[in-house]
Amino acid sequence: MKMTIGRTAMIGACAIASLSIAGNLYAHGNVTPQAVDTSALPDIEGGNDNWIEHNPYSGNPKAIEIGESAYGQNCARCHGLQAISGGIAPDLRYLELGDSGDEWFIERYHHGSSHDGKVYMPPMGDVLGQKAGWAIRAWLETQHTED
Ligand code: HEC
Repeated sequence: MKMTIGRTAMIGACAIASLSIAGNLYAHGNVTPQAVDTSALPDIEGGNDNWIEHNPYSGNPKAIEIGESAYGQNCARCHGLQAISGGIAPDLRYLELGDSGDEWFIERYHHGSSHDGKVYMPPMGDVLGQKAGWAIRAWLETQHTED
């Protein structure tokens, strides 16, 4: 019983901590990306710098595993744990599946988003690499929801 209460309290504390960190990052666009080891995944045709528009790892179990952890380290602080947004950034479970979703995903991942001189999302592509991006997308597909 004690254990359960402790755990719940800790999860709550973490959620609050990550929310305030996200608030900070949101304001300054200041993020230190965590490198992702994608050596177990097949190389992108034409090389990592040849940005393609469709996910080559869709349904690949290894990619999904790598993507889940890469998401947790690099995206969850803004987009929410398990891709469930707390409202700071869009809920990525609703991203369209298939080709048009892929294109939009990789565009944002690669270049980030800024308007009116403010960074809303820092560019991730050149720091984490294309393979990590598609691995995250492969995991996000498994979290997709319509409602
Ligand atoms: C510093 C906070 C922050 C981090 C970290 C971050 N994002 Fe974002 N992201 C945002 C915000 C804010 C938007 C909305 C931008 C806008 O509306 O212009 C966004 C938008 C997106 C979109 C478009 C969503 C839509 O519905 O249009 C995708 C895809 C995305 N992010 C993927 C990622 C991935 C993948 C990562 C991790 C590699 C990541 N983001 C890390 C803040 C962040």
